[in-house]
Amino acid sequence: MAQSKTKFRYDEVIARDISFNLTKANVHKHWFNDDPWNTIWLTAILAAVPEGERWGLRAVAKLLNKVKDPGIRETGVAFCKQERIHAREHDVMNDLIIEDGLPLDKIEKPFAAGFEFIKKHVSTEMQGALAASAEHFTAIIASVFLEHPEAFKDTDPEIVNMLYWHFVEETEHKAVSFDVFTDASGNHFAAYLRRVFGMASMTALGAPVISISVAYLLWHDKQLTNIPSARRMFETLFGEPGIMRNIGKLYLPFYRPSFHPWDDDNREVINVWKSAYEKSGDPAEAYQVFCGWIQNQKPAKASKKHNSPFKAFSSEKAEFIDA
Ligand SMILES: [Fe+2]
Ligand SMILES: [Fe+2]
Repeated sequence: MAQSKTKFRYDEVIARDISFNLTKANVHKHWFNDDPWNTIWLTAILAAVPEGERWGLRAVAKLLNKVKDPGIRETGVAFCKQERIHAREHDVMNDLIIEDGLPLDKIEKPFAAGFEFIKKHVSTEMQGALAASAEHFTAIIASVFLEHPEAFKDTDPEIVNMLYWHFVEETEHKAVSFDVFTDASGNHFAAYLRRVFGMASMTALGAPVISISVAYLLWHDKQLTNIPSARRMFETLFGEPGIMRNIGKLYLPFYRPSFHPWDDDNREVINVWKSAYEKSGDPAEAYQVFCGWIQNQKPAKASKKHNSPFKAFSSEKAEFIDA
């Protein structure tokens, strides 16, 4: 079996076909801790997930016949299966959020049109580079939340079970589209330039589109003046868990010529969830085992803990696991 540079075995990418019990009863428009601003920034990203994942899997699938390494080809197929199932579950969740009054459909449509444009007008190789870039973003979000399950302290357990299954699989396959693109492109300088251009364009287009979507949803939901909720969102982004605080450390390495997604080797974190799921077949049980493991890791990491500028708003989160 072929291996990537950190000895990640390609046969470790497994599509777990789980249907979550997402219903009107547990998915409402402020599903993330009943907090409007936190919900809206993450939901604006989730609006792009179903179409984005379907486009990404097609971009990878189109390159597979150019891939020389049979291990990478095999894992590319598993990646496509995973993304198809993720899209299906996020479709259910997004539809429920729309039903409860947050107009995600208004955001989904331009995303879908954008992906359609890329499919028609962008070369197969460039789409591969864009897919590798998009996967790097999902891997960043997944790695930060995997370290901080307490961020979803007041979120419905079934939503959390679904999100952590997705975070685990996004991490598990974080190198697949990268390896497919690199193998199919021949790993030469032109391929490096294409990869870097893909990431720069994805960032330049994605950041304003997500920001405008967040502003629109906040306006529509009459939350623009909800300052306490705004502070909680900034805490999530820049304090703890700190998606944006960690962005330089996690995002910028992609531009190095020698970069590989498994340079940041966080298999230890997902392996806990994976082996618990393998034993029980239950994502809820796997999540509980995973949380217990994270709790045991906390003392070791406490000395490195970030001094949050928003600490006053996050103190209660630290008690999440003990509660
Ligand atoms: Fe996914
Ligand atoms: Fe993915």
